[in-house]
Amino acid sequence: MARVLVTGGAGFIGSNFVRYVVENTDDEVTVLDKLTYAGDPRTLGGLPENRVRLVQGDIADAGLVDGLVSGHDLVVHFAAESHNDNSLRDPSPFVRTNLVGTFELLEAVRRHEKRYHHISTDEVYGDLELDDPARFTETTPYNPSSPYSSTKAGSDLLVRAWVRSFGVQATLSNCSNNYGPYQHVEKFIPRQITNVIDGGRPKLYGAGENVRDWIHVDDHNSAVLRIIEAGRAGETYLIGADGEQNNKDVVELILELMGQSRDAYDHVTDRAGHDLRYAIDATRLRTELGWAPRFSNFRAGLADTIAWYQANESWWRPQKARTEARYAAAGQ
Ligand code: NAD
Ligand code: TYD
Repeated sequence: MARVLVTGGAGFIGSNFVRYVVENTDDEVTVLDKLTYAGDPRTLGGLPENRVRLVQGDIADAGLVDGLVSGHDLVVHFAAESHNDNSLRDPSPFVRTNLVGTFELLEAVRRHEKRYHHISTDEVYGDLELDDPARFTETTPYNPSSPYSSTKAGSDLLVRAWVRSFGVQATLSNCSNNYGPYQHVEKFIPRQITNVIDGGRPKLYGAGENVRDWIHVDDHNSAVLRIIEAGRAGETYLIGADGEQNNKDVVELILELMGQSRDAYDHVTDRAGHDLRYAIDATRLRTELGWAPRFSNFRAGLADTIAWYQANESWWRPQKARTEARYAAAGQ
């Protein structure tokens, strides 16, 4: 049994990770989460209290982080400011959390000689052309576009330097776009589902031709556990499940699955610097570590996700009006 410190465990992917760990291991988990607008303790509701503990605090708080890291065997670092649109409005919390926060965690795992796994995104590689057959691999050069992706890229580079310079036992993973339960309503898929539940219309940025490579959150997390178990220290693994879709097709599928006309959506102001396409080649993860995704049917995974938002309105409702007010102010 291991003692695992999960940062950002009250957010979307981190909370699903905690559930996954409780269901699939004997490990004990401490969640360190600042409970920003994106974190909600209710997300950890129903988990056994003797296995999961929540500490509210900031990963940039060196003293707090040092004490917590010293008492655990492994740190899995999900905490981040995670939304591109917010990073365009105000980059400053992205620099503090994604860069300074990661630095404090690395210093603590270095001092206490603990194993560390770093969660990152494929957005560090920039974007691909729509008609380019290429996909990202572990050797694609970093070329981030936004304040969000550039601070994630910077955090990855800190990890690589702490591995090389100080011998920190770290692995890294860069995953494509996740979907599933407990995702904040500011993100693309939950925003459109909850708009339709509210009798409104989905909002598509620009022409909707941008492509994202969708993966179910449980597939992301099964890959993370596999990398922690069998990945080589210092190495990066790309996580993806061959789920490329353009935004227009996703909106039309949501409308169809929710019994609406497939053209009942609005085009709104495009995102500044909007990355065109992301696509992951996960060959290394599949061949070296023998991982495979379980949710290969996007239509079925999306239908389950829609059902989850329909059944859990009390979870997302408190965030909805504030989120839509922010979008409306930006013409989105
Ligand atoms: P999220 O915004 O849903 O959750 C982030 C969590 O971190 C929240 O609970 C928040 O309260 C917490 N947090 C923020 N700042 C903090 C701080 N200073 N100290 C402690 N806690 C803090 O994000 P998510 O979508 O779950 O993403 C989790 C991680 O996965 C991030 O590192 C993100 O870059 C990465 N990632 C996300 C995706 C995706 O599709 N969402 C894809 C690949 C990688
Ligand atoms: P998002 O969920 O913000 O993830 P990311 O920016 O990390 O890819 O957006 C996914 C895609 O959906 C992206 O191309 C932007 C687009 N989008 C819309 O078309 N409408 C929306 O309301 C939102 C939030 C995003």
